[in-house]
Amino acid sequence: MKKNTQNPNMHYQTHVFCCVNERPPDHPRSCCAARGSGALRDYMKSRTKALGIRDIRINNSGCLERCELGPTMVIYPEGVWYHFTEKEDIEEILQTHILKGQRVERLLLKPGQTFLVPPAEHTIDLKVIDIRRDTSDILLIEVAAGGENELPPFSAGAHIDLLIGDKYRRSYSIASDPSDRGKYILGILREKNSKGGSAWLHENVEVGMHLVASPPKNNFAIIQEATQHMLIAGGIGITPILAMGYQLLRNKSKMTLHYCTKNLETTAFIKEVQKVFGEHVVLHHDDGDVSKGINLDGILKQYPRGAHLYVCGPESFMGAVAEAAKEWPAENIHFEYFAAKKENPDWVNEEFEISLSRHKKILTVPREKTILEVVREAGIFADASCQSGSCATCRTALLHGRPEHRDAVLTEEERAENKTIMICVSRAKSGERLVLDL
Ligand code: FES
Ligand code: FES
Repeated sequence: MKKNTQNPNMHYQTHVFCCVNERPPDHPRSCCAARGSGALRDYMKSRTKALGIRDIRINNSGCLERCELGPTMVIYPEGVWYHFTEKEDIEEILQTHILKGQRVERLLLKPGQTFLVPPAEHTIDLKVIDIRRDTSDILLIEVAAGGENELPPFSAGAHIDLLIGDKYRRSYSIASDPSDRGKYILGILREKNSKGGSAWLHENVEVGMHLVASPPKNNFAIIQEATQHMLIAGGIGITPILAMGYQLLRNKSKMTLHYCTKNLETTAFIKEVQKVFGEHVVLHHDDGDVSKGINLDGILKQYPRGAHLYVCGPESFMGAVAEAAKEWPAENIHFEYFAAKKENPDWVNEEFEISLSRHKKILTVPREKTILEVVREAGIFADASCQSGSCATCRTALLHGRPEHRDAVLTEEERAENKTIMICVSRAKSGERLVLDL
């Protein structure tokens, strides 16, 4: 097309079109509105005003016909396209593109591009700087940054995934003080039936060795608005809870820890726990007989208004806490699982369909396969780690449909909302079609 060089001056220096097109919820292509474009466009408008940016117009647009890359926006007169999913993306587009005239490379959509490029897995290099045997089967491993970069910050309750050889990927909570940017401390329990994860670490890890890990992730964060915090740890479940203790102590928050182990000899991090929690820790030893252990019914009978309960330990232990905490609002109870929840006997695998809205594919998930397996077999990238519903790496936005959530990560509230699904374990009933943001 020939350019007309006699155009009048532009009325707006910058014109942004954000797609807010909406399709029926079960539409196989889905739409930008279902992926949250309306609220992000509003955010862009309000931030533009707050930043005092003039000569700009931000308009709603109908379908820009790049739905598989959505939400999408195009900025004129440059004709630059972006994909955006969160407020941080909008902020970066405003700060970098609009204010500095540069480009936000990670969000750019190229001409002719039809699929979003899956993010490359980001890993961090760790160097073992100290090893301590804390109990007969628990090893404390202290790691620092392996290269020149600083360790990524973490919040209390976070974990990292250690990538052990090609085969094993194991999640370990960070037990150290989140304000200490120089190291992470991990508590590694040697699992009885370990096939290579914890057993390998117990047998092979040495000071000076480098380990590869994911950056910290947190599915077990402290709730800032809580009026008080009750923490219950079973065995090695103390690791995220100790990090929470450092943070709560610094915040001068009201807290109580119930720490349950067999006896003092099997109690990990005992010195640190006593130092951090002081008079706010109650130790419960059962000598291997659960009937002599913590009186959960007595402790949890009453719900102190506004309190939040955090629980980490073996699955049966967490089940007992959930049972005893019936008077507590479900949204005030937080569990951190190390492994998959026990199979619910009511779960029956049925065949159902998934619609991959970005890839324009409808696939059948047979009884013997997971959604994750079916997606990967179709040659489509889907990130995953534990593959047992406990780490949230495979969390995928659900645009439509009624799933059967089988993970250990989502809260009751999130389950009811049905906006995300762990595709490594969760399924649907026969006749159902789940529309996924993939
Ligand atoms: S629905 Fe937004 S580009 Fe089509
Ligand atoms: S991969 Fe861990 S929850 Fe799915």
